[in-house]
Amino acid sequence: MTLNLALQGKRAIVTAGASGIGLAISRAIVAAGGRVHVCDVNRGFLDALAKTDPPISGSVADVGDPACVDAMFDEALGRLGGLDILVNNAGIAGPTKLLEDVTDAEWKATIDIDLTSQFYCARRAIPLMKEARGGSIVNLSSTAGLFGLPMRSPYVAAKFAVIGLTKTLAMELGEHGIRVNAICPGSVEGDRMARVLAAESAALGVDPAVLRHNYVKHTSMRTFVSAEDIAAMVVFICSDHGARISGQSLAVDGHTETLMARD
Ligand SMILES: NC(=O)c1ccc[n+]([C@@H]2O[C@H](COP(=O)([O-])OP(=O)(O)OC[C@H]3O[C@@H](n4cnc5c(N)ncnc54)[C@H](O)[C@@H]3O)[C@@H](O)[C@H]2O)c1
Repeated sequence: MTLNLALQGKRAIVTAGASGIGLAISRAIVAAGGRVHVCDVNRGFLDALAKTDPPISGSVADVGDPACVDAMFDEALGRLGGLDILVNNAGIAGPTKLLEDVTDAEWKATIDIDLTSQFYCARRAIPLMKEARGGSIVNLSSTAGLFGLPMRSPYVAAKFAVIGLTKTLAMELGEHGIRVNAICPGSVEGDRMARVLAAESAALGVDPAVLRHNYVKHTSMRTFVSAEDIAAMVVFICSDHGARISGQSLAVDGHTETLMARD
């Protein structure tokens, strides 16, 4: 059997696709022959992406705002003419503090961007995919959607909820040939983990290098993963090889044993 990971002619929207994991996913879909429209809150990142070879189109949109999501979908459909793949990638880390110190605004922003955005995007994508008689929705969760993690309650709550949303959508949409899966990245090498480690360091008074060592130590393969590792999984499940994969939470993490071990 030869692996055919082609996404020739597939039309994809990737949220928060202008940097980090979203950018790696967008580039991988394009490299597999697909067409991608991204959105991001950062106009500078989008302008840079429009100048790459091949260029990737994008809309400035905050996925936590339903009006922005609707405008982004209208723009994306004008360019793509339909939709086969939705990657709900956007997600913020949220506050690093005990629950009793979390403000209403911090809770709401984290749930809006990490969870409710996936509802806003999916409700626009589903009628298009039903019309196309198939499609693939990929929701970014996290290993924090599989384990508890002290000081990160809004993030963990949202990422667990993403898995529930994924399984329910897979049940609602399977008969239409639409597959819905969640990906749970472990700690990904890059700016975001550097910010997470800095925030944990400030909250706990522990050196970021020690915190990083602990994340690695609690991973069976003793490693962080790369954005490209996540992108490869997205391409695989959206390709013909993923044709019977739905309702799953697929960890790409070198096998996390725990996120925080007690002494
Ligand atoms: N980086 C990790 O270690 C890691 C681990 C597990 C899960 N994840 C998840 O993977 C996804 C991508 O993570 P990342 O590390 O690339 O994130 P990141 O923090 O690097 O951000 C990527 C992009 O998101 C954009 N963005 C932020 N808020 C937005 C909003 N409201 N609307 C649209 N765009 C917005 C930013 O401008 C940026 O370009 C997230 O859902 C995250 O929770 C990441």
